[in-house]
Amino acid sequence: MTRTGRFISFEGIDGSGKSTQARLLAETLRAQGVEVVLTREPGGSPGAEDIRRLVLEGDPDRWSAETEILLFTAARRDHMERTVLPALAAGKTVICDRFADSTRMYQGLSRGDLRALVDQLHDLMIGREPDLTVLIDMDPDTGLARALGRQGTEERFETFGADLQRQMRDGFLALAADNPARFRVIDGDQAPDAVAADVLAAVSA
Ligand code: TYD
Repeated sequence: MTRTGRFISFEGIDGSGKSTQARLLAETLRAQGVEVVLTREPGGSPGAEDIRRLVLEGDPDRWSAETEILLFTAARRDHMERTVLPALAAGKTVICDRFADSTRMYQGLSRGDLRALVDQLHDLMIGREPDLTVLIDMDPDTGLARALGRQGTEERFETFGADLQRQMRDGFLALAADNPARFRVIDGDQAPDAVAADVLAAVSA
């Protein structure tokens, strides 16, 4: 019998602490003897990391909204082919920091209503959802303050401001409500240890 691993994604607005939580979950599961591949999007494979630089650095107006959707989807396709699917086939647990729900929110909402296009391209080129999606929910203003406090060159989406941050949060919560079997919503407005405990409980269940 072939073992197929579990595919878990973490989602949330910028500054929600999801990357920290993805890492903590990976550490906890590894300590329990689970084989874990911790990865991220955009990126997670050499080609997708190259695309990451194209979409997150430099002039924000470099790509049209549609081209941007194609680039994020191209990165995801490469990541699936090279990293995620082989790991799952080998029975490993894949923990991914952001996945297609981020494209649904960021590319689907931020430059006009392009959600239908995002979903069509997803069906055509990706065609798979995580087994479980952990949404780290967070007050948008707190999240934005945290995100802006980090210095970096990847500031593409973090400069969008409070209104969009609020729209993203509502959008993620609506996605979770529409897909209750796949999503678990975790209160991110707690100490990191408390958030991690809630995440572990949700994943174990
Ligand atoms: P990430 O590295 O998760 O940044 P952070 O830890 O600050 O959340 O993601 C980088 C940015 O890429 C983030 O602002 C969201 C954006 N993004 C999209 O716009 N579309 C996507 O499909 C993905 C995966 C990320």
